[in-house]
Amino acid sequence: MIQRWQKRKTQLPLVVLVFFVFIVSSILYNERNIQQIHQNHADPDPVDDHHPPSLKQASLLESTKALPVVLDRFSTCRSTVKYSGRKAGRAVDTQELDRPRGNGECDLFSGKWVFDNSSYPLYNESDCPYMSDQLACHKHGRPDMGYQYWRWQPHNCNMKRWNVAEMWEKLRGKRLMFVGDSLNRGQWISMVCLLVSVIPADKRSMSPNAHLTIFRAEEYNATVEFLWAPLLVESNSDDPVNHRLDERILRPDSVLRHASQWEHADILVFNTYLWWRQGPVKLLWKTETNGVCEEIDGLRGMELAMGAWADWVASNVDPHKKRIFFETMSPTHLWSREWEPESEGNCYNQKTPISDEGYWGSGSDLPTMHMVDKVLSGLSSKVTTINITQLSEYRKDGHPSIYRKFWETLSPEQLSNPASYSDCIHWCLPGVPDVWNELLFQFL
Ligand SMILES: *[C@@H]1O[C@H](CO)[C@@H](O)[C@H](O)[C@H]1NC(C)=O
Ligand SMILES: *[C@@H]1O[C@H](CO)[C@@H](O)[C@H](O)[C@H]1NC(C)=O
Ligand SMILES: *[C@@H]1O[C@H](CO)[C@@H](O)[C@H](O)[C@H]1NC(C)=O
Ligand SMILES: *[C@@H]1O[C@H](CO)[C@@H](O)[C@H](O)[C@H]1NC(C)=O
Repeated sequence: MIQRWQKRKTQLPLVVLVFFVFIVSSILYNERNIQQIHQNHADPDPVDDHHPPSLKQASLLESTKALPVVLDRFSTCRSTVKYSGRKAGRAVDTQELDRPRGNGECDLFSGKWVFDNSSYPLYNESDCPYMSDQLACHKHGRPDMGYQYWRWQPHNCNMKRWNVAEMWEKLRGKRLMFVGDSLNRGQWISMVCLLVSVIPADKRSMSPNAHLTIFRAEEYNATVEFLWAPLLVESNSDDPVNHRLDERILRPDSVLRHASQWEHADILVFNTYLWWRQGPVKLLWKTETNGVCEEIDGLRGMELAMGAWADWVASNVDPHKKRIFFETMSPTHLWSREWEPESEGNCYNQKTPISDEGYWGSGSDLPTMHMVDKVLSGLSSKVTTINITQLSEYRKDGHPSIYRKFWETLSPEQLSNPASYSDCIHWCLPGVPDVWNELLFQFL
């Protein structure tokens, strides 16, 4: 299957790739839904992008070149050179240790989707007070409900049934934190929606959207939090709302900005992937004081960032005190011809999962997977992998497509061709991320 894809990939014309990059970037750059999470009171206008870039701040970088400045969205490279081959930190020991499994010998990530409308969905979309308008597909007009009714069935065992009371007991007195990009934010919202039903309204709270956003449940003295860190390391895209930028600049040797937030959590769930798929990124090393960036392709940039993250985990995590999870890449469904040859389209109007076992689409990059495998295998005593890629690959029906809030006004041209603006990256809720959380539940 994998080989089949590789063969196809080499035949992709350039124009298709350019279009892919366009779609991914227009969706990633526009994910400004987060205010909507807190919009219990009608507040239809997102307030971001309303702060005009301050010229003063932009020129500040110019005048303080002696110190490594904290990157923000106004940061620029004075010049850019090719990547020098420099590495950050120490190499993580990559010897393979026993990888912890949730359920004896059973591989929970290998299985199939089973239609089950008696136990799913695990919550109702409209009952979740923190639902995001980016993910509330039914509310935004999705007519078919099938995407809510699928249960993940591993081949050789059963998953423990989701149990909200048991989950709260696991979380009692603890901080559970999701760290990453909008896919991980979707999983965080899913987790909050899964958990919130048993918490009375006056015994819970949600902090305003920020770099770190916190859901708190008083009775359990527990929090479920989301930290915006799409590249894991410090970058110019660390503003949770304003990260629509022409170039990605990151510090491959600095996880500190984010680690200072996440280090206090008891259970951490990390992800990173799609932001590395938009072309080259620029490295600005901490010791570089003249604003000279090095350009590197996304995969190698991600490898450096994963290395910095792995170093942090290796030297800071005591597995008896902290649980660390890493979510593998979330697939996209941008080309329907990958599962239905000759067809033109994407996830729009897809109503059922793919049943072809082992199906693998272009949204899941194999070199990235191999790199992640390598990094994680060096950390296997400290990090549990939640391998969502294959199971989510089957779910071409699970994306919002046109059934979400869009913040840009859509042109008549776009409206007449729904596939042209469909979101085939994020996932409807209730839906696929609920199952990612059920998997997490198996390992806690
Ligand atoms: C579940 O699906 C079956 C078959 O499609 C249908 O007959 C039944 O009414 C559904 N039940 C519920 C609770 O939606
Ligand atoms: C969702 O709402 C329906 C009625 O609208 C109810 O029968 C069902 O139990 C609810 N499901 C959950 C998980 O709360
Ligand atoms: C609540 O949990 C925090 C850790 O998240 C702990 O430091 C604190 O002592 C707990 N408070 C109570 C009253 O249990
Ligand atoms: C995830 O599963 C795929 C097969 O579906 C496998 O190729 C890959 O190595 C796994 N990755 C990790 C990090 O476990």
